[in-house]
Amino acid sequence: MRHRELWYKDAIIYSLDVETFQDSNGDGVGDFEGLIRRLDYLAALNVTCIWLLPFFPSPNRDNGYDVTDYYGVDPRLGSLGDFVEFVHQAHNNGMRVMIDLVVNHTSIDHPWFQAAREGPSSPFYDYYVWSKEKPEDAHEDVVFPGVQESIWTYDRKAKAYYLHHFYDHQPDLNIANQAVRDEIRKIMAFWLKLGVSGFRVDAAPFLIGLRGLDEIVPDNTDPYVYLREFRDFLSWRRGDAIMLAEANVTMDKIPEYFGDGDRLHMLFNFMVNQHLFLALACEEAGPLIEGLRLPPEIPTSGQWANFLRNHDELDLGRLSDEQRAFVFEQFAPQKNMQLYDRGLRRRLAPMLGNDRRRLELANSLLLTLPGTPVLRYGQEIGMGENLELNERDSVRTPMQWSDDPNAGFSIADRSDLFRPVIDEGEYGYQQVNVMKQRRDPDSLLNWTHKALLVRRQCPEFGYGDWYLLEADHPAVLVHRCEWGGGVVVAVHNLSSEKVSTRLDLSDYSDDERWLGLFSDHAYDELDGSGAAIELAGYGYRWFRIEKPAG
Ligand code: NOJ
Repeated sequence: MRHRELWYKDAIIYSLDVETFQDSNGDGVGDFEGLIRRLDYLAALNVTCIWLLPFFPSPNRDNGYDVTDYYGVDPRLGSLGDFVEFVHQAHNNGMRVMIDLVVNHTSIDHPWFQAAREGPSSPFYDYYVWSKEKPEDAHEDVVFPGVQESIWTYDRKAKAYYLHHFYDHQPDLNIANQAVRDEIRKIMAFWLKLGVSGFRVDAAPFLIGLRGLDEIVPDNTDPYVYLREFRDFLSWRRGDAIMLAEANVTMDKIPEYFGDGDRLHMLFNFMVNQHLFLALACEEAGPLIEGLRLPPEIPTSGQWANFLRNHDELDLGRLSDEQRAFVFEQFAPQKNMQLYDRGLRRRLAPMLGNDRRRLELANSLLLTLPGTPVLRYGQEIGMGENLELNERDSVRTPMQWSDDPNAGFSIADRSDLFRPVIDEGEYGYQQVNVMKQRRDPDSLLNWTHKALLVRRQCPEFGYGDWYLLEADHPAVLVHRCEWGGGVVVAVHNLSSEKVSTRLDLSDYSDDERWLGLFSDHAYDELDGSGAAIELAGYGYRWFRIEKPAG
């Protein structure tokens, strides 16, 4: 059967932050009205699903991942009415909408936390995780080393320490409390009713973590059951809605997140992400092959979400110290490009030296690796970073639309922009912008548009079973995806050298024909199968395989 039933397996997801995308009222902050005006752009790019980073009322101490009201829109970005209009218009343009579900923690300013500080007499006290004494593990597992010292902070009013896996202004919610789980369900229900197709579940491992709750939960409590609870609820309320979780966990934990197809639908593939950058750094396919092989099999309805860069640091914590040091050396040699002892805070284009061939290679891998690709705004035009900004804000500068003042992002005074646009050097908006690239048939933007168009016609990459094919060259990755009778193959050369390689096709029929679909430049058509293949330096070729009839 070739029914494209599971939309998320076939999606092209584009992530953006409303506040940095398009300002419509000149106050220096992006807003929903501005985003609505840009929907044509996203639809024309062949995006099928927009993932919005948090847009809820928030003091914005962590880019909106510190929520004070789960049922509203940050007034700087618009109103709930604007949100509903946005969802409606996105649908009219053929795109779904996903939003962040940030319920591992709230902001300290959330009324629940403020009430909880009254102490155990408050009905909200048990919404959070408290300890009268400072726990011994206070300095372990801090997520933001160098910026955050402890995961337990003393609250003078409550006269107790509260748990916060992230910054001290983000107290963790107590998932073991039924009332908290009821709140989470209500939040999901609310946004589902407003038309979203799913949630990116923030900090999933911490959300279901039971740290600090020994006195409340019985020893044998299985926190993964909560995932099943949420999934059931989600599916009852909206059958095609999904949960895509951020869970950068060890591979033995992965099955717990997917369950038997009855927990989460998708996980970001952090393993492939980190190994992909190692492979790009050493110009060899080996690390990527390893990254693809490390994750366990997942249920048929489960799916990996692949990405190159996201709004956070590029976390390399799953590589060995030596491997990580090598990636740093290649892609983030200066200390201020690195962050939290494990990652780097750069955009893709500068990491790859703005080498167009390498940018295409990385994007081509993103679009063909088994799973669903997630692009980040600005990736399609090769935006750069601003290392003068704090921590991860370096990669969160406003979208560069044109060479008008402020990159066409806002008509506010430059000094009123809530975050500066990149306005100098190779990545300044005068050089890198949508308008300019739209006019240039050879631009990265037009390349991305074409690549996504072809990708849309290859559901096998998203739905299919995948197999690695042996190539006799260490820089070459060849994988084959099969689904519903269709077969596609992608061949990538990770090195700068032109290569010519032989593939082991002994498992396949002799008379399969390889038809070129997309490539870095025009190669001669293959004469029959891909047993011998040529690739330019950093070259890539996608094929559709025609099988003999019968
Ligand atoms: C993960 C988000 O991606 C990150 O930006 C945020 O700081 C933490 N979760 C805390 O919410």
